[in-house]
Amino acid sequence: MSKPLIIAMPKGRIYEEAAELMQQAGYNLSADAEESRKLILEFPEQNIQVMMAKPMDVVTYVEYGAADIGIAGKDVLLEQDRDVYEVLDLKISPCYVAVAGLPNQPLSRIAPKIATKYPKIASDYFREQGEQIEIIPLNGSIELAPIIGLTDRIVDIVSTGRTLKENGLVEYEKITDITSRLIVNPVSYRLKGNEIDEMVDGLSKAVEAESV
Ligand code: PRP
Repeated sequence: MSKPLIIAMPKGRIYEEAAELMQQAGYNLSADAEESRKLILEFPEQNIQVMMAKPMDVVTYVEYGAADIGIAGKDVLLEQDRDVYEVLDLKISPCYVAVAGLPNQPLSRIAPKIATKYPKIASDYFREQGEQIEIIPLNGSIELAPIIGLTDRIVDIVSTGRTLKENGLVEYEKITDITSRLIVNPVSYRLKGNEIDEMVDGLSKAVEAESV
């Protein structure tokens, strides 16, 4: 039998949706994989190995060929300019990146501070707006920054909008829509083209079926 296809799956909130889509495409990944603490799951009957990775790290595993295929948010792909093929929009986990802050607070005139875990997306956006800003990098709970007066604005993911609302913040501008994408290592595409094409084909049919 040929070597298994290694898939880097995002742990956390995207996992369930991604596993369900895989299931519809004919790949039976256990939906309860998240409950286990195992980081590598084997599915020998389907010749697949699944790596459970942090969403931000999926692209790294695929770029270095540790995984052949991965599921990554467009936010991560925009933020990290990596050498991977983005082959399919899976249209799952829709959300968007937005600029938010306290209500009725104009931007400081001189070098407004922006808290974010997306320094590249934020810098690119404000550069296009002709604004000179200072990025304050944070790893999570970004919404804290304007509340405690650390920054003028945040650039972060909005999904339901609950986090902004419950923290008394408002959205100022939407930067870009986000969904999860299927990504492929370029060398794997050459070596395991048939299996990968089969998976891409199955998944694109599942995505189409979902969107009708
Ligand atoms: C994300 C994002 C927002 C929140 C948005 O954070 O950074 O904080 O979800 O979702 P909502 O619009 O549905 O409220 P996440 O839960 O990934 O945790 P983090 O704060 O550690 O980044």
